[in-house]
Amino acid sequence: DKGNHRHFMAKEIHEQPEVVGRTLAYYLDMSSGRAALPFDLPVDASKLSRLTICGCGTAYFAGLTAKYWFERFARLPVDVAIASEFRYGDTPLEAGGLTLLVSQSGETADTLASLRSAKARGQKVMSVVNVASSTMARESDVIAPTLAGPEIGVASTKAFTCQLAVLACLALALGRARNAIDAETEARLVAELMAVPGLMATALKCESAVEGLARELGRVRDVLYLGRGTAYPLALEGALKMKEISYIHAEGYAAGELKHGPIALIDSEMPVIVIAPRDKVLEKTISNMQEVAARGGRLILIGDAALASELAEEAETAIVMEDMASDFAVMAYAVPIQLIAYHTAVAMGKDADQPRNLAKSVTVE
Ligand code: F6R
Repeated sequence: DKGNHRHFMAKEIHEQPEVVGRTLAYYLDMSSGRAALPFDLPVDASKLSRLTICGCGTAYFAGLTAKYWFERFARLPVDVAIASEFRYGDTPLEAGGLTLLVSQSGETADTLASLRSAKARGQKVMSVVNVASSTMARESDVIAPTLAGPEIGVASTKAFTCQLAVLACLALALGRARNAIDAETEARLVAELMAVPGLMATALKCESAVEGLARELGRVRDVLYLGRGTAYPLALEGALKMKEISYIHAEGYAAGELKHGPIALIDSEMPVIVIAPRDKVLEKTISNMQEVAARGGRLILIGDAALASELAEEAETAIVMEDMASDFAVMAYAVPIQLIAYHTAVAMGKDADQPRNLAKSVTVE
């Protein structure tokens, strides 16, 4: 049932404040301000020397995002692997180490094969899955469920942000177990996480601004997405969403890579969507935006009101986000990224729920 939405994808984008809130409530103890995992870890976290995270597509990008959190809060080095590469790769894994598999369906062939391969190499395996009865759930040492509810739209939206919620809570729990964060920091980060559903609800209010932008984007051939830090994997995710449902060619880049090649693409036809939350690398991202504008590129900014006014001259369009000083801002910034792809597809008359050539669950290699 799509409720009062035209597509499941729209419904699922709008459900995010609720399902992310539900997922966070499952992993956080609101009263004590601590991450409280509803299961025991299958390893001694204080002895881990690295963590491997593995998935495909959007789930892989959730892993790439979480790498920043595990490394910052748990001081744990993370390898993030594309499942189809990992399963045939030669990465040495320590016996007794931990591999995290991320999958909405829990049935993706390459991710399942990676789970089996990690197990065969002596790893403990934990799955972040949305389908609790899935094959991956059954074969894992521990399941960390996302509580997104059934996701019908082929393009993943609410499963992605719920994966981020689970992974953020795991990063805090591991941070505590490894003495990498003190109780005060943990309480601050838990409070930041608890604020995320509200920030996502506010982000949904940018929808009419996005619809205007989408009518413009529906006429272009290519789109570039840029971001730094956690906004970098979100740039990759934005480009994937755009490709899969609108069939417009899109690429995501780490903003600092611009001058190593893609800057050659920039001309007055090229929209460049820059994801710019207020974080420690924002000043660097601003320099990249000025480079885009100086070359006549069509700069589309996603940032707060202060940034939008600072770049009023340079930006063709600004999608204005609420002010937030949050290590988890990327979860709220995912909302306009999803809405941009969705409304571009709708403006072009494409079926956002059933993109050509794609299946919801890729159970063959
Ligand atoms: C993108 C998308 C795919 C899936 C990928 C993994 O919108 O839906 O990239 O993320 O096929 O699927 P799961 O998470 O079921 O393993």
